[in-house]
Amino acid sequence: MIVDTLLQRLPPAVRRKVDEFTEAADVASHIRDPRVLRALGPSAARGLLLKRGKQGVPNLMPSGHAAHFDWTYPHDNAEMATLYKRAKQGQWDGDDLPWHLDVDPENPEVRLLPESFFDIEIAEKYAGKLSPKERTRFIHSMSAWMLSQFLHGEQGALMASAQVTESVQSFDGKLYGATQVMDEARHVEVFLRYLESKLGRLYQINDNLFTIIDAVMTDSRWDMKFLGMQIMVEGLALGAFGTMYNVTEEPLLKDLLRNVIRDEARHVHYGVVALRQHIVGELSESERQEREDWAFEVSMLMRNRFMMYEVYEEWFEHCMTRAQWRECVLAAPGLEMFRSRMFARLVPNLRDIGLLSERIMPAYQAIGLMRYFDGASARELEVESLL
Ligand SMILES: [Fe+2]
Ligand SMILES: [Fe+2]
Repeated sequence: MIVDTLLQRLPPAVRRKVDEFTEAADVASHIRDPRVLRALGPSAARGLLLKRGKQGVPNLMPSGHAAHFDWTYPHDNAEMATLYKRAKQGQWDGDDLPWHLDVDPENPEVRLLPESFFDIEIAEKYAGKLSPKERTRFIHSMSAWMLSQFLHGEQGALMASAQVTESVQSFDGKLYGATQVMDEARHVEVFLRYLESKLGRLYQINDNLFTIIDAVMTDSRWDMKFLGMQIMVEGLALGAFGTMYNVTEEPLLKDLLRNVIRDEARHVHYGVVALRQHIVGELSESERQEREDWAFEVSMLMRNRFMMYEVYEEWFEHCMTRAQWRECVLAAPGLEMFRSRMFARLVPNLRDIGLLSERIMPAYQAIGLMRYFDGASARELEVESLL
């Protein structure tokens, strides 16, 4: 409380720096496994403190993984071969979406997101009353922020799926992986086109999303890339896309999201198939524990840290602290729906690949995530139930 009062007296730019540093220190101080700290720490410093994602282009991420060749071309994984076939049949063309539809993000009749997505009254406690026009514009900012993060996540997925295709040790997995690279390119294409031609805005990448992508790209171990991208980020994407798909009234966006969700369901399925055998059958217990701890820390990042500061800086930085803004974001019904969908997908997948043993259950219990433990994993789910 006292800290909050002191912070409020500082100029906004200084206040932001202090709060950012405190948040980064808070992330690091929770990590119990030193190996996880070594793996995530440098990415967190680059993302949260140096803000590398916001420093312009190019943004280079060195990666030391090995490209795995096999000149005998084994048919080594029937489930991946089936996924490859399904992926070939499921290809679609972004040009076929109904781009001719007019989109007016400020039209109250056809909302990108409903007003109930965010409890604006909590923000008004600090910011004063917003006019109906301002409310609509604020919701527009939020939708554009979310779609921008989808786009940035898709760029991460494009690069990571290319790396994973090189480094995965199953030959059937490589063929499948190539279809995912194409899928992710198409996702970048359609989200970018939507933002550019329909919303006319693009927000910078969120620092936490940058941190996770940086960690995945710069870790040289293939299974960490898989875990980070195919399980964690894809789980995050499915939660976010599913939430937006369910609440948006805009028909072009709805079509776009439906197609993307169909692809993403295959991507997570692939991650689960590839990792299950590796984690349960090939890793030592100590290596398994390291991955289990890593997955927990990334879950924490995804649960607590997508605070939409970029929207805050645009709208409210002059009249409330970042702590007050966090209170608003954590209470937002739409974001609660998103967190719940995300973890309903993610937790059963972690269980299925052997990264949710009794050893880590109390930690998940403490943050309220064990209620998703018995859900269906990606291998058991039909696409229609994701929609
Ligand atoms: Fe994608
Ligand atoms: Fe994906």
